[in-house]
Amino acid sequence: MKNPSAALLAGALAWAAASPIPLDAQTADRVPPERLAARERYRDAKFGMFVHWGVYSLLGDGEWVMERRAIPADAYEWLASTFDPVKFDAHAWVALAKSAGVRYITITARHHDGFSMFATSATPYNIVEWTPFKRDPLKELAEECRRQDIALFFYYSQLDWHHPDYWPRGRTGQATGRPQSGDWTRYLDFMDRQLTELLTGYGPIGGIWFDGMWDKPDADWRLAQTYALIHRLQPAALVVPNHHRTPLPGEDVQTFEQDLPGANTAGFNTREIGSLALETSLTMNRSWGFNLTDRHFKSVHELIGYLVRAAGNDANLLLNVGPRPDGTIQPEAADRLRELGRWLARFGDSIYGTRGGPVPPRPWGVTTRRGDIVYVHVLDWTDPLLSLPPIGGRVTDAWMLATGEWVGVTESESGLTLSLPPGGDDEPDRVVVLKTVPRDR
Ligand code: GLC
Repeated sequence: MKNPSAALLAGALAWAAASPIPLDAQTADRVPPERLAARERYRDAKFGMFVHWGVYSLLGDGEWVMERRAIPADAYEWLASTFDPVKFDAHAWVALAKSAGVRYITITARHHDGFSMFATSATPYNIVEWTPFKRDPLKELAEECRRQDIALFFYYSQLDWHHPDYWPRGRTGQATGRPQSGDWTRYLDFMDRQLTELLTGYGPIGGIWFDGMWDKPDADWRLAQTYALIHRLQPAALVVPNHHRTPLPGEDVQTFEQDLPGANTAGFNTREIGSLALETSLTMNRSWGFNLTDRHFKSVHELIGYLVRAAGNDANLLLNVGPRPDGTIQPEAADRLRELGRWLARFGDSIYGTRGGPVPPRPWGVTTRRGDIVYVHVLDWTDPLLSLPPIGGRVTDAWMLATGEWVGVTESESGLTLSLPPGGDDEPDRVVVLKTVPRDR
């Protein structure tokens, strides 16, 4: 099929016409109440921890090492047989996530290298059967996440550099020494089988985070069937596709890679923002998978800035860590996560459960809102006066979230001006709380 999205849309429209559930304006999709509620919970969460972890972690050179160094599949298979993360401790990971204030974890169940980090009957090329480790880390994580009340999403790569049936090949994975033939339908069946395992063997999960479709943009990915399978197996699980296009039927979140919604500095993303929940994924240094020499860690100050700007853009921040091959998380990453958690313990009210505020994102900062409270996040502004356009209500009280100190507000037809208290220049975010009532009261 040359144009999968047109066919998908046609199928969804036909289904939608016969369904009592209201139509999503963007994807022409009928979304059942369980999933609508899950989308709202997801929007409330605001902060997630991305985990890139797999055989590639052994080489300390990022998750694309197989492709970049043209490692043949058989050599990589040997490498996989040595994977033994003896220090992996699901409790410690989830406790770290918890101390960071994240509300969900998204972990690589299978990355482009094609190695399954979970027990699967679809291939022996998985962590339980292929490695001396023999444990299923996703199972341990799922149990621990349940215990510590964190949602768990599985990253799942549609692109595969190892599977012989990933054929015809796409833009990548050309140099791994696979036979020049394969059965695409069998590959799609293989993926559906694995997804069935992920959706039935790990309790209720947050959803599936897909990646890699961009490797074969014109292929028939049979998305309608796969998405329907997911939604049937777990009606509250969300589909988060990193295909860099505008959303398709069956999808729940529009995710942006290394960019805030609508921006495209990384060169991957569409600039079009739709009506679905939004997410921004971000590396803490410059690598997703563990990189031994990447020292470009963003500062805590910068990371808080990303989190706040994401919230002001009505998006979640999915912040990545790349654990080491022994199963530990680098102290540089762990420290930053804990610092973010300390900040959120004080300022979380202005982030969790909010939506993008009445003033669109500005160079000086952003606004968020919950009910009649508007939070003004002053990120990059040193003058004592800050003017805002009208915020759609009258301000009855204004104070600094950090100290409770009152903030002067002058209102006029053209907006309002805040008199910010002096000091705090080294604070990553000065949060002003505005309590508002509708204009006519
Ligand atoms: C890109 C990369 C992949 C990474 C993902 C995370 O799609 O190919 O390695 O997992 O971004 O957003």
